[in-house]
Amino acid sequence: MEQKIIWDNRYSSIKHNSQSSEWVEKYREYFREKKERTIIDLGCGKGDNSYHLTEAGYSNIIACDFSPVAIEYINKTYPTIETRCFDMINEFPGDIKNVGVVLASLSTHYFSMNDTVKLYRNIYDILEPTGYFIFRVNGKKEFENNDKNNIHSVIENDYYLLNDGTTKRYFDIDSISALLKSFLIVDVHETDSKYHGQTKYYIEGIAQKV
Ligand SMILES: C[S@@+](CC[C@H](N)C(=O)[O-])C[C@H]1O[C@@H](n2cnc3c(N)ncnc32)[C@H](O)[C@@H]1O
Repeated sequence: MEQKIIWDNRYSSIKHNSQSSEWVEKYREYFREKKERTIIDLGCGKGDNSYHLTEAGYSNIIACDFSPVAIEYINKTYPTIETRCFDMINEFPGDIKNVGVVLASLSTHYFSMNDTVKLYRNIYDILEPTGYFIFRVNGKKEFENNDKNNIHSVIENDYYLLNDGTTKRYFDIDSISALLKSFLIVDVHETDSKYHGQTKYYIEGIAQKV
C-alpha cells in the first residue's frame, strides 16, 4: 500500500499527544537563537511539536507533511500555524529556503539509502548558514526491542518492510553521522522515551550548517 495512504488512515484515529513534544525542550537554546527565523517541522504529523513551539512563543513555524489528513487537522485545530503538504522525498517547495531550524521528529527513517542521502542534502540546502537540523530517528535498539518480530522482509541493509505495510530504517550513531558529514555535528546520542505510551529507542541530535 502507498505509504501516504497508510499515514492518512492512521491520522483518522491518532490523537494529539502533548507529552511527545517534551524532548524538544532540550534544544530550547538553539530555537531561541533562531527565534526570528523560519522553523520547519518536517513530517509534522498532527502538529504536536509545532503546537508545542507555538505555545512557547514561536510564530514562524511551517508544519510540513505529505498526509492531507494530518495537514487538514492542523489547519482546523491550529489555524495560526502555516502548513505545507508535500512529499519530502521530492524537491522542497521553492520558497522554503534560508530556514533557521529544521525539526524532523521520527520522520526521516522511512526511505531507501538513495532517497535518504538526497533528503539530507535537501535539508542542508534549505538551511541558512549556521541553521540547525534537530532530528530523532529510529535506533537499531528499536529494531531489537520492538520491531524485529514484526518484519515482513528486508529491503536493504537496516531497511525493512514491516507487517503493517510501512517501511522503516534503523540507525546507529555511525550511520547517522555519515549522512550528516556536510554538517557540524553539535550532538548525537542514543536515547529512549515514551511515545504514544510505548518505550521507543532513538538516535537523536543536532547538527549545524557550516
Ligand atoms: C512517526 S510520524 C511523526 C510525527 C511527528 N513529527 C511526531 O514527532 O509526532 C512520521 C510522519 O512523517 C510523515 N511522512 C512520512 N513520509 C513522508 C514523506 N515522504 N514526506 C512527508 N512526510 C512524510 C508521516 O505522514 C508522519 O506524519
